[in-house]
Amino acid sequence: MKGEPTVSKAQSRSPLLDLAFGYMPAQMIHAAAELGIADALAGGPKTSAELAGETGAHAPSLHRLLRGLAGLGVVEQKERDLFALTAEGQRLRTDASDSIRSLVRLFCGPDVWRSWGDMTETLRTGEYAWERATGMTPFEFFESPSNAELSATFNAAMSEHTRAVAPGIIEAHDFGRYGTVADLGGGDGTLLAALLHAHPDLRGLLFDQAPGLTAASGTLAGVADRVEIVAGDFFKDVPGGADAYVLKSVIHDWDDEKATAILRNCRAAMRPDARLLLLEQVMPEIVTPETQGVVRNDLNMLVCTGGRERTEAEFRRLLDAAGFADASLTGPIAPFGYHIIEAGPVG
Ligand SMILES: C[S@@+](CC[C@H](N)C(=O)[O-])C[C@H]1O[C@@H](n2cnc3c(N)ncnc32)[C@H](O)[C@@H]1O
Repeated sequence: MKGEPTVSKAQSRSPLLDLAFGYMPAQMIHAAAELGIADALAGGPKTSAELAGETGAHAPSLHRLLRGLAGLGVVEQKERDLFALTAEGQRLRTDASDSIRSLVRLFCGPDVWRSWGDMTETLRTGEYAWERATGMTPFEFFESPSNAELSATFNAAMSEHTRAVAPGIIEAHDFGRYGTVADLGGGDGTLLAALLHAHPDLRGLLFDQAPGLTAASGTLAGVADRVEIVAGDFFKDVPGGADAYVLKSVIHDWDDEKATAILRNCRAAMRPDARLLLLEQVMPEIVTPETQGVVRNDLNMLVCTGGRERTEAEFRRLLDAAGFADASLTGPIAPFGYHIIEAGPVG
């Protein structure tokens, strides 16, 4: 309009460029999580020199990061050189009940970061980036003692995520009807502990490979007398005897061939009246902005594990191939849209 300044397309701010530069805030938040800035600020505001002293950082550089974190709403700049945690920043504290520190350390840390950085090659070759870089699956990688620290971060990240998901799962399904629930690939037992706290008569069986179980005894405190912990490999066999077999965020780690092999081993271990409960996000046939979470997770599987998020039809095909029938879906369950996919053995 006449008299008003015009902004040409070339001068306007591009939302797409802001998205592409999203790696900068991601790495700023990661650096804060890695250094333990939020833990150091738990007691109240501090200067950059005080924080640098406590976290082993270079004070002038840390001051620059803190200004950046203030811009993101992670900390508040109270004076030129005095910083405090915001309510959102509290979630980077290790001891916060809704902490996301390990999730940030895992998903923005060098190993997952490298896999995302190699996405173009994954798209050219179909080979997933993690395996191209390491020569093994993430779960084989975690088995090496030299990767114990990353394995512990992975377990803690899964626990943070599962802590948020568990209340909705417990509300959506009557686990009180079972005598024993087996949680296969159950990690440190976060979900099983929540189930057993909610149902005092329920017993549990926690099954995972040894690196997944390292923190289990701490997580299961208070319910340990009702839990059997079994280290094993679900590609070899699965323990029998449970009334329900839960696999949360396990099937999505694997391609169809490996996922079918796990499910067949479950089928072989299960009594005819036992139930299979897959706890997974379900990919919609047509994606919308609201379903971006599952789409992002699918791409994370594409580069990091060689697995995938699946549509309802794809889950039904897998279950059918592994000898399960009568699948029913409950969900989406807040906050991340998980579904409970329940099925029983055929025949
Ligand atoms: C994505 S994590 C999910 C952990 C947990 N169910 C949760 O949702 O918090 C996958 C789990 O599968 C376990 N796992 C991977 N390969 C396995 C195998 N061959 N046998 C048993 N467990 C395995 C991992 O150790 C890990 O705990």
